[in-house]
Amino acid sequence: MTQASISPVDTHPARTHTCGALRDEFVGSDVVLKGWVDTRRDLGGVIFIDLRDRYGLTQIVFSPQDDLESYQVAESLRNEYVISVRGTVSNRSAETINDRMPTGRVEVRVSSVVLLNESEPLPFQVSSHEQKAVATNEDLRLRYRYLDLRRPDAQDKLILRHKMYQATRRYFDSQSFVEVETPVLMKSTPEGARDYLVPSRVHPGKFYALPQSPQTYKQILMIAGLDRYFQIVKCFRDEDLRADRQPEFTQIDVEMSFATEDLIYELTEGLLKAIWSDVMDVDVPVPFPRLTYQDALETYGSDKPDTRFGLKIHNVSHAFADSGFRVFDNILESDGRIVAIVVPGEGDRGRGWMDKLDKEIVRKTIGAGGLIYFKLPSDGSETYSSVKSEVLPSQFVDAAVSAVGAESGDLVLVLAGTNPTVYEQMGALRLHLGRDLGLIDEAAWNFLWVTEFPLLEWDEEASRFFAMHHPFTSPHPDDLELMHSDAAKTRARAYDVVLNGTEIGGGSIRINTADVQRQMFNLLDIDEVEAQARFGFLLDAFKYGAPPHGGIAMGFDRIVMLAAGAKSLREVIAFPKTQRAQELMVNSPDIVDENQLKDLHIRVVEEEKK
Ligand code: AMO
Repeated sequence: MTQASISPVDTHPARTHTCGALRDEFVGSDVVLKGWVDTRRDLGGVIFIDLRDRYGLTQIVFSPQDDLESYQVAESLRNEYVISVRGTVSNRSAETINDRMPTGRVEVRVSSVVLLNESEPLPFQVSSHEQKAVATNEDLRLRYRYLDLRRPDAQDKLILRHKMYQATRRYFDSQSFVEVETPVLMKSTPEGARDYLVPSRVHPGKFYALPQSPQTYKQILMIAGLDRYFQIVKCFRDEDLRADRQPEFTQIDVEMSFATEDLIYELTEGLLKAIWSDVMDVDVPVPFPRLTYQDALETYGSDKPDTRFGLKIHNVSHAFADSGFRVFDNILESDGRIVAIVVPGEGDRGRGWMDKLDKEIVRKTIGAGGLIYFKLPSDGSETYSSVKSEVLPSQFVDAAVSAVGAESGDLVLVLAGTNPTVYEQMGALRLHLGRDLGLIDEAAWNFLWVTEFPLLEWDEEASRFFAMHHPFTSPHPDDLELMHSDAAKTRARAYDVVLNGTEIGGGSIRINTADVQRQMFNLLDIDEVEAQARFGFLLDAFKYGAPPHGGIAMGFDRIVMLAAGAKSLREVIAFPKTQRAQELMVNSPDIVDENQLKDLHIRVVEEEKK
């Protein structure tokens, strides 16, 4: 076997087609294709290669009868070698036609090949024929991301993402929005996470912060009279990472002057409808259903309800008033709640299943005190209660069963606890069952609005309020008095848009007067001096005719993740960070040169060993 050598230049003409283009009608044409060796089969006397590029695969055939020299080169080709081939498109023989491949009716008989580069043996397979790479250790794939991204499945996700950028820009342009870039080196904005900081060389001891969002800038653009702003923008938040959280992520950021909630809802629904229609060919009905925060919590136990299945939560506290069952009585006396869900068709579950649900899910995973349940057997026999009738008399069980509308064959699950924690726990149990029992309609796209979020959130540890959305969010006009009398109950003009149980966007109508903004800072324990130091520019701007305004930001990566059916944001970001906030290919974060530190007036202090 002669060892083919890499050609220093590509002596072939430019490619005439991509590897996904050839069909019957090209039979007889002379073509040039370039790409990677996806697979190679040597049948002794003839060598078949599937040549791959972003557009697909084409079978190319090397035979000594067609061209001896090319055949000899083909003998030394291996997976992921890069080649250029010239040849003639011909029909495949009937028995070798592959209808699963778009190019599967033809092949290219090679008359000349140029070896453009070689590849070492791969750390994992990337062939189009083997999606097994997905099972390969993710750290390894991220380290060799350039190989991982050769998989058509990985490329499809980036291409989907690309189409979504284009649909987004087309939509906003059609609605007279102006795309404006805002600074990446800015000043800390409070979005609830830790900032990424960048030290200043020119101003020793001073730092820029990377934007957690361009919140204040987009408000300033409204005061500047831009009227309608949008930006597809990187945001940075140093927070604990999860499958749907990256430290560096992309928002579709939007702000409008003279905005009302309804105008923002309509605009956002239009955007999501346009994206789904242009990119996925799916018609999304609008307007989206709306639920208040309170209703979402009390019906689904979550501010991002997954409405693709039922199992709605019922407050059954009244059914157990004065039941004599100590656990329930204590909880009701301390203003707690007893809540229930009906799981249809599960009333014949055995002891083992119930115990496992109680111990492993309710207690261990969800952290609730314990599960109480009533089974209504499908043969119509008597209701079974997990609490003996001497402890919880059966008329209370019957009252609860009838209040929730359970029927023969159903299972009623009950949790008792403090409000609102018990709703959240039931929400988690509901989600577990939805997944475990296969109740979720995977083909559904359930968009909805959650409205009227509380303005503030009490933090036990810090013993102070934080803004639930951010400090620039306007209080509900009906609740201005409450801000002073019962701040925790104040509602905000804030909303989230939710898709299939994931928060894909959030926004608010903003405060636009210095006076209300000061009151808000007061509630957040931000005193006059601090307010002036951090947000003086905004308070000043409010003095010069700030129009009413509001907006929203959508989590672009999350939208792509859901649309792609991906499990994690990492699958839809070209170079994502791991759970430990590292990018494994370039190995960031990393140490830097002593001189760089010196320039930045920074000395690294070794952490003391405990
Ligand atoms: P918010 O903080 O709700 O609002 O963010 C808007 C949306 O961004 C997405 N998101 C994230 N996606 C991936 N990784 C993260 N770490 C992450 N954090 C947030 C979510 C979320 O709904 N300035 C306001 C918007 C406004 O008021 O107009 C803001 O940033 O999908």
